[in-house]
Amino acid sequence: MTTSEWGFDTLQVHAGAAPDPANGARATPIFATTSYVFDSVDQAAASFRLDDLEQHAYSRLSNPTSVVAEQRIAALEHGSAAVAVSSGQAATTLALLNLLRSGDHVVASDRVYGGTVLLLRERFAELGIDTTFVSDVNDPAEWRRATRPNTRAFFAESIGNPTGVVLDIETVAQVAHEHARVPLIVDNTLATPYLVRPLDHGADIVVHSTTKFLSGHGTAIGGVVVDGASFDFGAEPRRWPGFHTADPSHGEVGYWERFAKLGLAYALRLRTTVLRGYGPAPSPFNSFLLLQGLETLSLRVRQHVANAQAVAEFLDRHPQVTQVHYPGLDTSPHAALARRYLPRGAGAVVSFELAAGLARGRRFVEAVRLFSHLANIGDVRSLIIHPASTVSANLTEEQLRAGGIGPGLIRLSVGIEDVDDLLADLERGFEAVTTHVS
Ligand SMILES: Cc1ncc(COP(=O)(O)O)c(C=O)c1O
Repeated sequence: MTTSEWGFDTLQVHAGAAPDPANGARATPIFATTSYVFDSVDQAAASFRLDDLEQHAYSRLSNPTSVVAEQRIAALEHGSAAVAVSSGQAATTLALLNLLRSGDHVVASDRVYGGTVLLLRERFAELGIDTTFVSDVNDPAEWRRATRPNTRAFFAESIGNPTGVVLDIETVAQVAHEHARVPLIVDNTLATPYLVRPLDHGADIVVHSTTKFLSGHGTAIGGVVVDGASFDFGAEPRRWPGFHTADPSHGEVGYWERFAKLGLAYALRLRTTVLRGYGPAPSPFNSFLLLQGLETLSLRVRQHVANAQAVAEFLDRHPQVTQVHYPGLDTSPHAALARRYLPRGAGAVVSFELAAGLARGRRFVEAVRLFSHLANIGDVRSLIIHPASTVSANLTEEQLRAGGIGPGLIRLSVGIEDVDDLLADLERGFEAVTTHVS
């Protein structure tokens, strides 16, 4: 049986790893080294010219611990290659900068993580890269209307954070390819490849904040970019100068001419120009923690989604709740897309609006005990936060409204504890809201 025939549970334990040839270590060691000794001057030169893709040179470019995590995530996402970076924010930044230059344009869903909105709207604008945000994420006409001649990427999340919009990946990919002639990048952080593999549905590139479910234990910031090797940067070479211009340090022809046949043009360019140039390399310690998390990904996600479904149904029935955002609920406007793209479960982020409004909602957040009040998702522990005053506080009122984030919205990331204990904890929150009514 070959690696490509292994099931998900086998891949998450074994893909990319082998016993260490030098000492037999079975778990992947943490290679705490910045650099690697070359056998000869010729070998060193071959490594820098990218003639030898196996030899490591410097840990800003690649590291043996991180490579195991990269190969494992590429296998789980059905990608051709992956590049690990220091954070999810770095993954989004580098995935886009590998395609864009000053004067280019991006079309993005506005139902994405607040930090991504900030990156596109503020930081990229400072670099001369404009973004048009699409509000009805699954309306192909909106994506078409937003496209300009200088558009070079579409960007969206498979499940939007925090309001659970499920992306119709096939429809948006079709507009990206046939109308805009650009790749579709999907942030698959909330779903994980266990719930959906965007590359199987037409996306070209996947990014993750591995900080969340992939690492899974709230211990390590990290990110990864996965290349589907599906987008043809050779069809219109003049639109993609970065893939067709010779890079003086790496040889006489561009990345597309050299590496497209290996399915590595996008990933290798990202590693050896963008990551090399901007520098957000992952720590091998964090890659080790990521590998530990990946080994139990499906087991954890099964419990996360079962608990999230129960929590969402409990909230949906609760008289003190006016609205629940969870695509696994039959009443969700995204239920049909969730059934199509997420048959194993609709993720573990559940957001809801309290009838009592924001002022009393604060008491709810402070009263719960099992749910930790902090700014993260995708931990084995259950988490709670009020986005409008914290993780999304950088957004204007208009941007919050556009992103579906009401002033009283509370976001839960449902963990893997006993679900009855979680429901009892939420009930404690509701009691605090009513007890303190003056
Ligand atoms: C969907 C999504 N993408 C990207 C990020 C950024 O990841 P990181 O915090 O690892 O930089 C986050 C962080 O919350 C996120 O929720």
